[in-house]
Amino acid sequence: MDRATAGGVPAPGDRIAENVDLRPIPRIAIQAFCETPEVAAALEQAAGDRRMARTHVKIHMGGIAAATDFYSSAPTPNLLFVESKERREKALEQVDRLAAVCDGGSKVILVGHYDDVALYRELLKRGVSDYMVAPFDLFDVIREIGELYLSPDAGPVGRTVAFLGARGGAGSSTVAHNVGFALSRDFESDVVIGDFDLAWGTAGLDFNQDPAQGIADAVFSPERIDDVYLDRILAKCADNLSLLAAPATLERTYDFDETAFSTLVDVMRAGVPAVVLDIPHVWSGWVRQTLMTADEVVITAMPDLASLRNSKNLVDQLKLMRPNDLAPRLVINQVGVPKRPEIKPDDFRKALELDIAAVIPFDPALFGAAANNGQMIAEVSAKSPIADAFSDLARRVMGREPVRKARKGAFAPLLSRLSLGRRAPG
Ligand SMILES: Nc1ncnc2c1ncn2[C@@H]1O[C@H](COP(=O)(O)OP(=O)(O)OP(=O)(O)O)[C@@H](O)[C@H]1O
Ligand SMILES: [Mg+2]
Repeated sequence: MDRATAGGVPAPGDRIAENVDLRPIPRIAIQAFCETPEVAAALEQAAGDRRMARTHVKIHMGGIAAATDFYSSAPTPNLLFVESKERREKALEQVDRLAAVCDGGSKVILVGHYDDVALYRELLKRGVSDYMVAPFDLFDVIREIGELYLSPDAGPVGRTVAFLGARGGAGSSTVAHNVGFALSRDFESDVVIGDFDLAWGTAGLDFNQDPAQGIADAVFSPERIDDVYLDRILAKCADNLSLLAAPATLERTYDFDETAFSTLVDVMRAGVPAVVLDIPHVWSGWVRQTLMTADEVVITAMPDLASLRNSKNLVDQLKLMRPNDLAPRLVINQVGVPKRPEIKPDDFRKALELDIAAVIPFDPALFGAAANNGQMIAEVSAKSPIADAFSDLARRVMGREPVRKARKGAFAPLLSRLSLGRRAPG
């Protein structure tokens, strides 16, 4: 829905006064499939409200049936509103069909026309986030979204993925930037890439940006960081992609204490659906701490002995530090350099007891062109299988299956969402 045309008739004054406490909604992607013009109008008005300025909203007609059809071949957004005029049994059948095409990370709100507590309970059991009974107005919509994303037990909005090289120059930053780019394209929700390599970081070069030294501002004045400050220091690179670039200058040295990046990471994950952290190849207190807070860790290795040893140490260390988390993902990069003896992916798999998430060939022409043009692989060569590999990795780290494989047949279980909310901060 075009924001400029959204809005429509102003809300009545008493509703305005009652709702002055509403807070701005984070940068999530919201889509709706409505059946009645009244529901579409309320959502449209909400989309035009200033508190929704950071969100990406698309409103379609056709109700839950059209949504099921649509998402059988497209990823679902962070939040999905679907309307049904059916009563309990039929509505639940429709919801079950939608669940079969819905990605695990998405929240779903059913909009119905009957005040039915039994239906509401059944929906919660199925992992639907809430049931809203029409009619309602824009304030009800914004309050509802706020309760899902801003309440103290809502859990972080964002998924944080830390990328670390098993050795210098392995291509970790290249992988991080390309995965971030794929996330912003494939999921239509906001992605922020934080370049944590303050002295040498290449995110600015890779995206052909000459932005302010975003990340240094944030790290050297942590007391100022909040969502409004974050908005100011982000440099926009593409539709849904923003960058916190590194200064990449050497006037000062960068010696950080262990928690130097913690506030910044917290603010990012509270407001952005996908956060990519490009971590330099060093082992210091703040790197360890940042790896502790990430939802996923991606290690990029080269097919050589140093990478194998370092990956093994990293995987073991991460298991100790994060015993209750998923194992890190391992990317083997720059495979197939002519005449170079290489360690086989299968040997990595056996030594690390870890499935290999991606094997990326050495392709100096493609990667060189991308680096020199300040472009991503998918921009230089959209059809390249390497671009597909980055998209697949992007889906995996977001907790979703690659498109070509079967999808999960249910909404994310309610319990797993609740436990996210209880996750200890920092
Ligand atoms: N698969 C590949 N084939 C050819 N060149 C590649 C490949 N992957 C990365 N490169 C190139 O390797 C170089 C190093 O990549 P990158 O800066 O991403 O590595 P890094 O692991 O982040 O290094 P650092 O240790 O400096 O952080 C870049 O010039 C990049 O273009
Ligand atoms: Mg790097």
